[in-house]
Order: sequence, then structure tokens, then C-alpha cells
Amino acid sequence: MGAQIAQQAALHGVEAGLHDVSAEALERAVASNRGLLQRRVDRGRLSAADAEAALARVRTATDLAEAVAGADVVIEAVVEQLEVKRTVFAELDRLAPPGAVLATNSSTMGISSIADATGRPDRCCNMHFFYPPLVMDLVEVVRGPLTSDETVERAMAFAREMGRTPVLLRREIGGFIVNRILHMASQEAYRLLDAGVATFEDIDTAVEKGLNWPMGPFRLGDFSGLDVTYSARLHMYRTTGDERYRPSPQLQAKVEAGELGRKTGRGWYRYDEEGR
Ligand SMILES: NC(=O)c1ccc[n+]([C@@H]2O[C@H](COP(=O)([O-])OP(=O)(O)OC[C@H]3O[C@@H](n4cnc5c(N)ncnc54)[C@H](O)[C@@H]3O)[C@@H](O)[C@H]2O)c1
Repeated sequence: MGAQIAQQAALHGVEAGLHDVSAEALERAVASNRGLLQRRVDRGRLSAADAEAALARVRTATDLAEAVAGADVVIEAVVEQLEVKRTVFAELDRLAPPGAVLATNSSTMGISSIADATGRPDRCCNMHFFYPPLVMDLVEVVRGPLTSDETVERAMAFAREMGRTPVLLRREIGGFIVNRILHMASQEAYRLLDAGVATFEDIDTAVEKGLNWPMGPFRLGDFSGLDVTYSARLHMYRTTGDERYRPSPQLQAKVEAGELGRKTGRGWYRYDEEGR
């Protein structure tokens, strides 16, 4: 997520510092972004010069201080673990310019659970992008109880500056807007599967042909990662106690078997080396 968010901003003229603790992850990020932009060049949708300029605008650094020097906005997209995010935010508070907005791309954690690790909770918020950020237009900006109006405006403006459409959640709620609606629909798909009403393939076909979704819930789960889907469900279930969010036993079995979707070559469907 972080790699593509940085690249998306750079495509719109923003100088972006991309940080990871792993130098290898940074190398993969650069190679992947290069491949994705090259595809646009090959299809005549981007000039070779613009692609090179956008790639050059992403500076990588394993040193966090170097990555955030001079930043106006920092978007954190590390692993979905609260303690890791809180540690990163405390570091960012120390290393990023005092006026910088600190945003998290977390899919499940409201900024209020992270912002108090910093001395600037008023300048913290969620900026929730969708996978893949180079394609998906939406950003959910979520304000926490201490987020200032100015921070909200800057996050919304920054999303627009990087060519994305922001929507504002005026208060924190688990799942934000899109995932709440998506989860209810896909939970129903899992209920139909668990009850033996139809195969996963037929449920996907029904949703794709009957509702015009580009991908049915099982194909989409494979695309995002079934571990991501599962932990998001579990989080919603645990935080709301609402039975409607309880993860499907068949989804749990896939995750336990390490069949996580495209990234492992197998989830609900099977994939070749190119993810087809
Ligand atoms: N994958 C999605 O579809 C999706 C969509 C929206 C939001 N998100 C959110 O984005 C975030 C990242 O998700 P992802 O799928 O890109 O995860 P990922 O595991 O692919 O990437 C996380 C990266 O964080 C790095 N990292 C771990 N600890 C770090 C630290 N202390 N400092 C710096 N880097 C560190 C890892 O090396 C890894 O490269 C999560 O909060 C997730 O909820 C994911």
C-alpha cells in the first residue's frame, strides 16, 4: 500500500519519501512501481518522460528521519498491529516537522487509538486508501475526537492533490463506510456458502452478473488477501460483538491452511505466477 500511495502522489507532482524497515521491501516497491508505470507507457496512457519523472520523485530510505524530513503530510502504512503503529507514530512525532499531518492508512484502527502516542493528536487522522492505490480513486478521511478542522481540510486537500477523491467520516466508526457495506454483503455471500446454498463460483458469478460488481466477494477476497479479510472480520466481530460479523469457518480454514489468495498462488481460486 505504502509503495503505491507514494507513487500515486509522485504522479501528481508530489516529492515523496518512501520508508520501510526492510531495504528489500523498498527494492520490491520500486521495481513494482516501475513495472506498473511501464504498463501505462506501453498502453500509451503515460509518456515515458512522465513515468521517469514520477519514479524519480519517490525517494526511498530505510532511515525514517531521512524519509520524513521536510514532510507536510506523512501517511503510515505499516503492518496492521496497534503497538507497531503506536511506536511508529511516536517516532514520527519526534522526527517529522512539527506542523506535519500524521495519517494512518489503517483499515481497522481509528486514529484515536494511535494519536495519543504523539504530542500532536490534533494533527492526526486516518487517510484510508483502497487496494491498489494506483487504481482505486477513493480515500476515506476519518477524524478522531481530537483531530482539528485544519487537519481534516489538509488531509482532504492532499488526497485531491494526489488525484484522489476524498470522503469525510465526521466521527470514527469501525469499518468506515466502504468496508461496513462490503462486509455486510460479503458476509451474506459466506452465509450462503456455509449453508451449502451455492458454490463460491456461482455466488461470484451471481454478484458479478446480477449486481454488476467488477469482482464477486470471493474473487475480491483473493485479490485483497484472505488474511486481510479475515482479520478485518474478526476485528469487527470482537469490537461490536455483533454475530453478523463473525468470520465464516470456511474463511478461517483457508487462512489457517495458508491459502491467502493471489499472493500465495491459491485462495478460493488458483493463480499462476502472474496472478492470473
Ligand atoms: N492490503 C490492503 O488491501 C489494504 C487496503 C487499505 C489499507 N490497508 C492498510 O495498509 C497497511 C499496510 O497494509 P499492506 O497490505 O500494505 O501490508 P504489507 O504487509 O504488505 O506492508 C507492510 C510493510 O510495512 C513494513 N513495516 C513493518 N513494520 C515497520 C516499521 N516499524 N516501520 C516501517 N515499516 C514497517 C513491512 O516491512 C512491510 O513492507 C495496514 O494498516 C492495512 O490495514 C491495506
